[in-house]
Amino acid sequence: MLESLSLEEFTKKYKQLLDNELRQLVEDLNAPKVIKDSMIYSLEAGGKRIRPLLLFATLEGFGIDAQKGLYAGAAIEMIHTYSLIHDDLPSMDNDDLRRGKPTNHKVFGDAIATLAGDALLTYSFEVLNKIPHDFASPETKLQVTVEMAKAAGAEGMVGGQVADMQAEGKTLTIEELEYIHIHKTGKLLRFSVLAGAILAGANQSQLRDLSQFAHHLGLAFQIQDDILDLVGNQQLIGKTVGSDTTNHKSTYPQLLTLEGAKAALKTQITKAKDYLNKTGLNTNLLLEITDLVASRNH
Ligand code: IPE
Ligand code: IPE
Ligand code: MG
Ligand code: MG
Ligand code: MG
Repeated sequence: MLESLSLEEFTKKYKQLLDNELRQLVEDLNAPKVIKDSMIYSLEAGGKRIRPLLLFATLEGFGIDAQKGLYAGAAIEMIHTYSLIHDDLPSMDNDDLRRGKPTNHKVFGDAIATLAGDALLTYSFEVLNKIPHDFASPETKLQVTVEMAKAAGAEGMVGGQVADMQAEGKTLTIEELEYIHIHKTGKLLRFSVLAGAILAGANQSQLRDLSQFAHHLGLAFQIQDDILDLVGNQQLIGKTVGSDTTNHKSTYPQLLTLEGAKAALKTQITKAKDYLNKTGLNTNLLLEITDLVASRNH
């Protein structure tokens, strides 16, 4: 039986369920204590859980109980958390603060932090495949698995991270910067929606529209991330403000000015909503999440 929850109630309920699941999944591992501690340290550092919430809200949009998406949501959050641990390493963005706490390598050292990232990435594929067969057929699970690999890998997030590193100190065209944002951040956000849609048995036109929705939402999300790096409140974002400037990163405000970046964010949010409205689904929660992406302060 589906309940009609506000986004606040929905977030509270499913964040709690997800947090319990993530902890249990890591506790279940038969592995050295330090790697489990390091994995849990970053998983429990208090992320917004926006990617699993997008998956859960997509399932609800199709009238499916979001609880069925817990394993898939946990898998996505593991990939996201691994990407943050590696992103913060001295050889990448060299950041000391993440989710309001010292970064993983500051506590566990570079070697364990790197391995915790590797372990989270690897485990995510095992976790995704724990989805019971009475919810998703082996064919559906295979499809979701391949999409997750593509979103996270060299054609997706990793490709974007490489381009991000190569762009340090350069002036890019807007198309080049868009490539970075769509890949390093957009692909995993898009997958979160797509996974929900595939698991829900969406038809081709719904898949197309939801994919476009999430594409624009993902780009908007990273534009706001760039804006917050410049004008955010460190207490709220839980990361060092000005990290992009220190690292001479290519960002939307750096290329378009702060006002230009805000305008680009607005354009992407409008496009995202236009596609969402075409789907004919119950989009209340997804629309609220979209508004939150535009207005978020952390
Ligand atoms: C931060 O992601 C890194 C990006 C890809 C922009 P989030 O802003 O979702 O970080 P958490 O999970 O809430 O910490
Ligand atoms: C990171 O982008 C995207 C990832 C895939 C981790 P950023 O480097 O801008 O993320 P933050 O600002 O450190 O969270
Ligand atoms: Mg980075
Ligand atoms: Mg970073
Ligand atoms: Mg950033």
